[in-house]
Amino acid sequence: MKKQINIGILGLGTIGSGTYSVLNSHKSDYVKRVGAKIAIKKIAVKSLNKKRLVKVPKSLLTTDVLSIVNNPEIDVVVELMGGINPAKDLILKALKNKKHVVTANKELLANYGKQIFDTAAKNDVDIYFEASVGGGIPIIRPLKRELAANRIIKVMGIVNGTTNYILTKMADEGSFFEQALSEAQAKGYAEANPKADVDGYDAAAKIAILASIAFNSRVVANQVFTEGIRAIKPQDIEYARDMNHVIKLIALAKENKEGLDVRVHPTMIPVSHPLAAVSDVYNAIFVEGDAVGEVMFFGQGAGGKPTASAVVGDIIDIAGNIIDGRTGKMKCTCYNKKQVMPVGQIISSYYLRMKVADKPGVLAKIARVFGDKQVSIGSVIQKGHGGKLADLVFITHQTKEKNLRAALMLINSLDEVSKTNNVIRVEG
Ligand code: HSE
Repeated sequence: MKKQINIGILGLGTIGSGTYSVLNSHKSDYVKRVGAKIAIKKIAVKSLNKKRLVKVPKSLLTTDVLSIVNNPEIDVVVELMGGINPAKDLILKALKNKKHVVTANKELLANYGKQIFDTAAKNDVDIYFEASVGGGIPIIRPLKRELAANRIIKVMGIVNGTTNYILTKMADEGSFFEQALSEAQAKGYAEANPKADVDGYDAAAKIAILASIAFNSRVVANQVFTEGIRAIKPQDIEYARDMNHVIKLIALAKENKEGLDVRVHPTMIPVSHPLAAVSDVYNAIFVEGDAVGEVMFFGQGAGGKPTASAVVGDIIDIAGNIIDGRTGKMKCTCYNKKQVMPVGQIISSYYLRMKVADKPGVLAKIARVFGDKQVSIGSVIQKGHGGKLADLVFITHQTKEKNLRAALMLINSLDEVSKTNNVIRVEG
């Protein structure tokens, strides 16, 4: 029987450093849990002399990534570099060399998942990726295992901490997006280039992974309708509050007769919804299953140690599999081929804020267009009185998005309508 499981780590940034420190913190417990020692053999870094978040013996560091993925002594490769290149080639090489892989790489899995999981299956090795969604929050394994008895009805989450922090600041302080973003950058939550977070791409990759597992059908990142939070104004947040709602960047996936509805966009949810209370950088994922009902997973979705908690959990699981001789058993579960619905086909309620001329007959004109396009109005409030222009805020009943878009095209061309300032989908 093996006495030691050797691991090689690719990357020693925030998550790599967290993983190094967590792996070294409870070593003796891990030996008891696994039945063998887990030893770090090598860590690949870009530069040997960089200042690091953790103290690591120089002898462990290398700049030669191939000396890890081709090393016959290494049993598990832990990829924590992020991005597609060179992570993809390195993971594929490691799998072909019969090494098990742990990765936190959502972008890679959401774009090249099939190739990666097929290669793992062909080589009878494990690939675990709990840290790819929700940082330290357990969600991949619960969806694959503990909730396996269910038909999943809906997965809906706040899976991006940066945008949740920005929207929380905007709501608490009445600030504009740009101010809240600068604050998030100053606190180190948002990257210097915040595009992946604020434009929704990070959340889209994460919901693609969750949808693939929840509905047993591969969803790739570019199939996810994605809208970020740049267009949200303090006014929208205020009007939402007047209606007992909050605005969150929600990633959601549900199944309809026409296929899978998978999307990321700012969403108005009632204050009574469990996700409404998730603030600052916290993440939460709400799952509805036909047997379990509603469950919610909550915690820190980013950061070195929380994410390392998921990475090391995967390493311990694989190490245990190696010792017990049951590797290669957690197969890819995408055995269905379901269509992802085009956004025009989705059904939702909508919040609409438009600037219109404040004079008799305008509301009637707008209402007629909505009626003609089968869009039913749930409520309308006029905000702002006394000037030439007023804000009209509509909430529609559930309608097909293509009907709403057709109505808005016509409404925006009316002389009395200055502009539709914002359209926000409403859930729950
Ligand atoms: N940038 C992400 C966030 C964390 O803000 O939540 C990494 O997925």
